[in-house]
Amino acid sequence: MDYRNLGRAGVKVSPLWLGTAYFGTRIPEDSAIALVHAALDAGLNVVDTANVYSQPKGYSEEIVGRAIHDRRDRVVLATKVYNTMGDGPNDRGNSRYHIMEQVHASLRRLNTDRIDLYQLHRPDPDVPIEETLCTLEDLRRQGKILYFGTSKFAGWQLCEALWTSDRLGLAPIVSEQPEYSLVDRSIEAEVLPLTRKYGIGVVPFSPLGGGWLTGKYRRGETAPADSRFAGRGMDFAGDVYAPTFDALEGLEAMAAARGVTLSQFALAWLLAQPGVTAPIVGPRTLAQLQDNLGALDVSLTEEECAAIDEIVPPAAELPG
Ligand SMILES: NC(=O)c1ccc[n+]([C@@H]2O[C@H](COP(=O)([O-])OP(=O)(O)OC[C@H]3O[C@@H](n4cnc5c(N)ncnc54)[C@H](OP(=O)(O)O)[C@@H]3O)[C@@H](O)[C@H]2O)c1
Repeated sequence: MDYRNLGRAGVKVSPLWLGTAYFGTRIPEDSAIALVHAALDAGLNVVDTANVYSQPKGYSEEIVGRAIHDRRDRVVLATKVYNTMGDGPNDRGNSRYHIMEQVHASLRRLNTDRIDLYQLHRPDPDVPIEETLCTLEDLRRQGKILYFGTSKFAGWQLCEALWTSDRLGLAPIVSEQPEYSLVDRSIEAEVLPLTRKYGIGVVPFSPLGGGWLTGKYRRGETAPADSRFAGRGMDFAGDVYAPTFDALEGLEAMAAARGVTLSQFALAWLLAQPGVTAPIVGPRTLAQLQDNLGALDVSLTEEECAAIDEIVPPAAELPG
């Protein structure tokens, strides 16, 4: 396994991470635990969860805690804070109050004494970044968290976080978790140039577009009954999705020419992008996990990446 540093942090992480957003909802607890064990046995070492995941909120963290309790020393454990956890005015966001309350709740649910990567699930426009970063730094010094990062921050917000840490003598954020895949290349405009320049790890979520890049959704057909998009009333015969299917069918032909699945091809493309640390996959079954792992054996050529750019154009760097 090609373990790599998480941005400029010293910790080594696997080139794929296991996501847990559907633990306890679409993925029953026993299947979820089997997925964690299979991923760790295959050499993945990061499990990504969040306080808000599952129903009731927090159940995904509880499942992860049970899955890793006898193998904690093999796991880099990542979770998140920001989203609404209750009805009160302070039950959400990146305030000192809410983070301090939630970090202890996450530690309890995860049944562990430290979180290895604590991520701000979203930027919070109501809270000064100084307040948030000082709180994370306090938790880091207490050893309750080892590293901290962000998710869905804009380029300017990442820059603000970096200069604030620098100005106040705090440890910097080590990673950003954006959406990034062959169905959404928008972070190439501002976020990726910044993360590359400043050595921030990039851990894309929904690297298969939630399922678009698996080939299970077909032009003119309804979503398969057991799929994530089933029952959403998406009209795959209509004009709305025609450009998506044009691109998917082009990518699928390229994957077939390589003898790999579309999902492996799409993950291999992400792994080939400079500055990407590790896509976070969200397999629902062991078979899907095995398929996703196969991407680690696929390396795309420059010619293939150029041909992909013709099918799914890169986002223009801003300002254009
Ligand atoms: N920071 C954030 O705001 C944020 C947001 C979203 C996700 N995340 C993180 O990223 C993780 C992954 O996100 P994601 O689940 O959207 O990732 P994804 O890899 O884009 O989509 C995974 C889904 O695609 C389908 N799939 C995967 N492999 C397949 C295969 N070989 N054949 C057929 N179908 C396959 C499955 O859906 P079916 O159920 O249809 O089979 C699976 O649940 C989450 O668990 C979470 O940890 C973070």
